Amino acid sequence: MKELLIATKNKGKVRELADLLKPFDIKVLSLLDLSSPPDIVEDGETFRVNAAKKAVAISIYTGKPVLGEDSGLEVDALGGKPGVYSARYSDPGATDERNNDKLIQELSGVAWEKRTARYRSAIAFADDDGLIDVVEGSCEGIITAERRGTNGFGYDPLFYIPQYQKTFGELPLEIKQTLSHRAEAFRKFLKLLEKYLVVTGR
Ligand code: IMP
Repeated sequence: MKELLIATKNKGKVRELADLLKPFDIKVLSLLDLSSPPDIVEDGETFRVNAAKKAVAISIYTGKPVLGEDSGLEVDALGGKPGVYSARYSDPGATDERNNDKLIQELSGVAWEKRTARYRSAIAFADDDGLIDVVEGSCEGIITAERRGTNGFGYDPLFYIPQYQKTFGELPLEIKQTLSHRAEAFRKFLKLLEKYLVVTGR
C-alpha cells in the first residue's frame, strides 16, 4: 500500500497520526491535501459510528484506503460530557480556547478527586470495498482547574496524567504517543493493516 489518507482536517490529529505512521513506508495524506473534500456530518451517537462514517465517505470519494478517527473527552463529573460533542462543546463554531474555557467553568468548585476523565479514540479503516473494521483506545486522566503547558491540541493543557504529574500540554509528543487514546487505537489499527496487506496483496 503506497498511500493512506487520514479523514480529518484537524492539524493536531494529523501530526500525531503521521508521526505514528513514520516508521512505515506509506505516504500519509489528509483532507488538508484535497482541494474540496465532502463535508461529513458527524451525527453518530458513538465514536465508532462517526469514525466509520468518515472512513467510508472519504474512501468512496477518493477510491483510496482511508483511516477515519473520531475522538473526544468524557468527564465523569459531567456525566460523560462533552463526549462525541467534544469538538463543538462551547458552541457550533467552537475553538480549543473556548472549549477549554467552558470546561474550566463547568468544573469550577469540583474537588480534585472528582475531576476524573478519559479521552477515547475510535479508528476506522475503509477501502473502496467498504468498511474493514473499527478499533478503539482510551486514556485516563484528571481535568485541572487551569491550563498547564502549550503542547498538543484540544483539551491537552487541562488533561493531567497522574503517572507523570503533568498535563499533555506539558508533556512532549514522544510521551503522549506512548500513552494516548489515539496511540492505543493506532496499535490495534496496525494489526488490522498487517492482515489487510497480506490478504489484499497491496
Ligand atoms: P472530532 O473527532 O473531530 O469530532 O474531534 C475530537 C475533539 O476531541 C477535538 O477537537 C478535541 O477537542 C478533542 N480531542 C480528541 N483527542 C484529543 C487529544 O488527543 N487531545 C486533546 N483534545 C482531544
